[in-house]
Amino acid sequence: MPAIVIVGVQWGDEGKGKVVDYLSRSADFVVRYQGGNNAGHTVVFDGKTFAMHLVPSGVFLPKVRNVIGNGVVVDPKALRGEVEMLEGRGIRVRGRLHVSLSAHVILPYHIVLDGLREESGHGIGTTRRGIGPCYEDKVARVGIRVADYLDPGAFKALVDQNLRLRACDLERVKPKALIREEVFAEYEPLRGFLKPFCCDVAILLEKALKAGERVLLESAQGAMLDVDFGTYPFVTSSNPVAGGACSGSGIGPTSIGGVVGVTKAYTTRVGLGPFPTEIEGRTARYLRQVGKEYGATTGRPRRIGWLDLVQLKAALRVNGVSNLAMMKLDALANVHPIKVATAYKVKGRLTREFPVSRADQLDAEPVYESYPGFSGDLGAARSFSDLPKAARDYVLAVERGLGVPIPIVSLGRSREQTVLRGKGLPWP
Ligand code: IMP
Repeated sequence: MPAIVIVGVQWGDEGKGKVVDYLSRSADFVVRYQGGNNAGHTVVFDGKTFAMHLVPSGVFLPKVRNVIGNGVVVDPKALRGEVEMLEGRGIRVRGRLHVSLSAHVILPYHIVLDGLREESGHGIGTTRRGIGPCYEDKVARVGIRVADYLDPGAFKALVDQNLRLRACDLERVKPKALIREEVFAEYEPLRGFLKPFCCDVAILLEKALKAGERVLLESAQGAMLDVDFGTYPFVTSSNPVAGGACSGSGIGPTSIGGVVGVTKAYTTRVGLGPFPTEIEGRTARYLRQVGKEYGATTGRPRRIGWLDLVQLKAALRVNGVSNLAMMKLDALANVHPIKVATAYKVKGRLTREFPVSRADQLDAEPVYESYPGFSGDLGAARSFSDLPKAARDYVLAVERGLGVPIPIVSLGRSREQTVLRGKGLPWP
């Protein structure tokens, strides 16, 4: 059975968790392949609300095994906090969570360095979880992998080496010796917690795929935050795009059978950087309020904008999206008219392609098409035909504009508030 990848096709926070939850009902494995505890989503399960950052969304379905792939950066302290929170609230995690021995470990000095960079005047509005500095170490070939962390001698030598390498910056905040003490005092005892979860994930997933099991790979963040294809340098430090699912999990491309892109019915972004269709004022405030658009990790108010077909086309291309899920259509109710960007004017010239240069991305002035708004409680709809005509027309117009089917439309938080069209999504 081929694996399926679920990717965010905007700037993250598209509502991937709900789509993963839907597909996980027929999955055997759910795999996170990049990012770290910078990600955040809220899951409502059995009437209880869970704030999730690292553990894959499949954890709420008892038969699903959950994997943190090599492409993820893992803060063992954050992971323990999340596992304890879940187990304390009745969700069994042990035996159902597997962490790659090749994943890199976030340590307190990465968090210090992230904060320093943000306060240097060159910040991009990160989540300050140490994500960027940990990936920097990985690419600089000085990172500490889970396998190194589990070996006390190797861990000690690598921490000492890295504190020396980063001393200049770190000493601006606290003495190196104090940071060293904190690392060992906090992270040595966490080794025993992490060890039982760790394995060679590539072998685990190879066996699963050979046995015909269903593997779902979930991205964190979104395509526009991808370090290669996003609005660089206002991006995260990994590859949320579908290609990252292979390099971040150990599955080969020939095992991937489909890519499901997830978009909101409008656009949001947290942190700094270009956002061509951003709006301010009454409509933005309204959508922020009804869409509860506040960062799940940092609580920051999300920036709000219209749906952007130029941006989405670029994201669909680099992800090879085969199906699209549109989330939060219900939040657009009572917005009249609804605008959608179909082109940009960049330096006075019309273009339908998302520009690469940061100056052009900042300069891009959207050209909009307007659609009539709709009203009513969309969350009560149980089929696409239950929706007001203007809402259906909006979905169909986006589908036409993008040339990719939208078989799933979400109308609220609960599982029931989802309507399927045509053949639905792959699997179920
Ligand atoms: P970092 O990933 O913490 O280094 O932050 C880099 C950029 O990605 C910042 O603009 C963050 O706001 C953004 N970012 C990171 N994780 C998420 C997420 O889960 N949702 C939305 N934005 C995110």
